[in-house]
Amino acid sequence: MRLGFPRPSLSTFAPILSHANPGQPTTCSSKYLTPPKPQTPLFLRPPTHSVTLSDLRKWKNWAKILTSSVGSNFIDADNGPDTTLLHRELNWLIEDALENPKPLLTQLGNDCDDEGTVVNLRAELGGLYELWKQRIEERRPFQYVVGCEHWRDLVLSVEEGILIPRPETELIVDLVADLVKGDNGELREGLWADLGTGSGALGIGIGRVLGTCGRVIGTDLSPDAVAVAAYNVQRYNLRDKIEIKLGSWFEPLKDVKGQLVGLVSNPPYTEQPYKWTTS
Ligand SMILES: C[S@@+](CC[C@H](N)C(=O)[O-])C[C@H]1O[C@@H](n2cnc3c(N)ncnc32)[C@H](O)[C@@H]1O
Repeated sequence: MRLGFPRPSLSTFAPILSHANPGQPTTCSSKYLTPPKPQTPLFLRPPTHSVTLSDLRKWKNWAKILTSSVGSNFIDADNGPDTTLLHRELNWLIEDALENPKPLLTQLGNDCDDEGTVVNLRAELGGLYELWKQRIEERRPFQYVVGCEHWRDLVLSVEEGILIPRPETELIVDLVADLVKGDNGELREGLWADLGTGSGALGIGIGRVLGTCGRVIGTDLSPDAVAVAAYNVQRYNLRDKIEIKLGSWFEPLKDVKGQLVGLVSNPPYTEQPYKWTTS
């Protein structure tokens, strides 16, 4: 769960379910021999980098000055984030990077006699300098900086090339949850499809509201999306319920023709052709 302000999402409870390493796509071998390896989000990396609280405080002070230097530049340019949100993101980055964030976040904000105290980080301090420069100077999306997005009651792994799931899309899961309630056993226990699954957000959200026999197949044309979605499925221990397949829209669903009880899709927003192929 986030400390302090929640990230802007409709719901913000954020269980950390598994610290497993990135896995293989659930279904991949027939389409490509070497599936892309998803990145591990910062908050799931091992806390193997030791640093003194004094050095971490120096980094935080540098990061705060860099953040404040933005002023209203991003708002003026394109209604981008203001410094209040950016300072909040800075705290989220520290929270994800620290092995034991709760007491240390408060301690970092105070002038204490603790300069020699050593704490464990999930990234090198030099890496954190680089990440925050990317956020402020290159305006890299925060979700790509930390490698995850808080969406509904999930924390989904995301990386460049994968759409960051949007808060509005959470409503699709709520609609399905309403549909499968009550006497709708056929919908609750049947097979659903999520076409263009991206990070797997909708597929995983729906998989979790279905009954014990309900299943979901997510498809995507992008091998990177398939790898990340499969990783997210694995992290939430849903591999027996959700299958991720590579291919265009219905093409990977030929073997379940006539068996679907429901279908969701949040297709691309632009007409720009996608560069990925399955060959
Ligand atoms: C707007 S994103 C939505 C991702 C995800 N469903 C979400 O809501 O966060 C659209 C997704 O459709 C995928 N896509 C584009 N063309 C496709 C196709 N022909 N077949 C399957 N997926 C496709 C893209 O790779 C991308 O992951």
